[in-house]
Amino acid sequence: MKDKILILDFGSQTTQLIARRVRECHVYCEILPCHSSIQVIRDFNPKGIILSGGPASVYDRGAPLLERELLSLDRPLLGICYGMQVLTHQLGGKVAAAREREYGRAELCIDDPSDLLAGLGPETIAWMSHGDKALLLPPDWVPIAHTENAPYAAMRHVTRPLYAVQFHPEVIHTPKGRQILENFVFKVCGCAPTWTMRSFIEKSVEEIRETVGAERVLCALSGGVDSSVAALLVHKAIGDRLTCVFVDNGLLRQGEAKSVVQTFLENLELNVIAVDASNRFLHALKGVTDPEEKRKIIGAEFIGVFEDEAKKVGRFEFLSQGTLYPDVIESQQVRGPSAIIKTHHNVGGLPATMEFRLIEPLRDLFKDEVREVGKDLGLPEAIIWRQPFPGPGLAVRILGEVTRERLDILRGADAIVEEELKRAGRYQQLWQSFAILLPVKSVGVMGDARTYENVVGLRAVTSEDGMTADWARLPYDVLGLISNRIINEVKGVNRVVYDISSKPPSTIEWE
Ligand code: XMP
Repeated sequence: MKDKILILDFGSQTTQLIARRVRECHVYCEILPCHSSIQVIRDFNPKGIILSGGPASVYDRGAPLLERELLSLDRPLLGICYGMQVLTHQLGGKVAAAREREYGRAELCIDDPSDLLAGLGPETIAWMSHGDKALLLPPDWVPIAHTENAPYAAMRHVTRPLYAVQFHPEVIHTPKGRQILENFVFKVCGCAPTWTMRSFIEKSVEEIRETVGAERVLCALSGGVDSSVAALLVHKAIGDRLTCVFVDNGLLRQGEAKSVVQTFLENLELNVIAVDASNRFLHALKGVTDPEEKRKIIGAEFIGVFEDEAKKVGRFEFLSQGTLYPDVIESQQVRGPSAIIKTHHNVGGLPATMEFRLIEPLRDLFKDEVREVGKDLGLPEAIIWRQPFPGPGLAVRILGEVTRERLDILRGADAIVEEELKRAGRYQQLWQSFAILLPVKSVGVMGDARTYENVVGLRAVTSEDGMTADWARLPYDVLGLISNRIINEVKGVNRVVYDISSKPPSTIEWE
């Protein structure tokens, strides 16, 4: 890929969003920590560099600063928010320490509608979220836009292609933000829009063939979009030398195991070994109520089953995993190691004792790009738009002990939630929506009889990435319909409650 943009991350919540917006322009970009060495940046060879926002103030002790040599690389630069303050501060301007944060929409008046701010009209809305701001511009920099509170809402160098904006063009609350980023990547940096999923597939298939040679590849197929697309891509590259292992741990949603096998084995003709290990998992989970204990047991059992199957099929040189770009960025630890709140994302991870080389064909992609690749490779819509589902499955949605009977109750309720939300056209807009089986019983009345039965919780959240989430404001009649159907159709449930907590401080899953 010739035309690439580099994003240097100063720790903003929206850095990944900048990258996604640039990719939406069909220009490849990557995120590197702000402290990356000049050599690393030179090797990446970007056509332009974007400095992200960040939580620091340039006056903080240890605040991240720019490598001085960055400017000598002679590449176009765009500083966003903290990126603008750091440029101002280090190039001889003055940054005013905040008396209070400016947060929210502001009317942006364009003073110079050439290049970066071209095509926006005289005024537009910009989203602000900053404490400090530029008080005095560095020598040879001029303002190109202002707001009522910020005379220097955007600035540029008089002769060099260096720009900065105080607001956030990457968020949807800046309606013309996309135009600004397009102006930067196309007009200022001169990139060509060559990053398409078609080109990605071609290149990736070639790379997989080259890496794998005549060897064989094993992968764990969960039926989720990431592992499915990874499997299809590897299959396109090496055909039957890919073997997929699908483990039914007995903790999947209604009809899921059957539909995964049908899709991949029968319709897409992949080499799939399906293992029904539900007895083994349920046996291991007997009497266990602690959430982390459940996760550990499920993780260990999964590895056990996977290893047993791998042994049966013989020698494999490679294991393919559906790691995505956000996982790669997280592991760069730009923001330092984040605290482990739950032991996530390790079920279906690496069997520690197996010997293999790893291939991760999706490690450069964001989720929306993975979906596009899936579409191109013929993956059914139902899988492409499947909401994320945790590795430990329904076990972390049954509070207390996991038994067959409780699994059946939860499956029945969960299937109704999915069906009704799809019918109401809400399913795709939600990050996740599901039922939870609570460990309490409540009194009800059915006909003339008193009942004493289970309570089901409903959870539906909107989210960008699962890190933060808000409870979905679903219409009352949709909630009402779901509740009625669950109570009438699922034996053993006489009450349904809706979870109205956001994350943080709650989490998405209940365990
Ligand atoms: P929480 O509950 O922490 O979840 O807000 C954030 C996202 O992670 C998923 N999740 C898991 N995924 N193994 C997984 O593979 C796990 O143990 C696990 N726990 C939570 C959750 O569904 C949500 O999308």
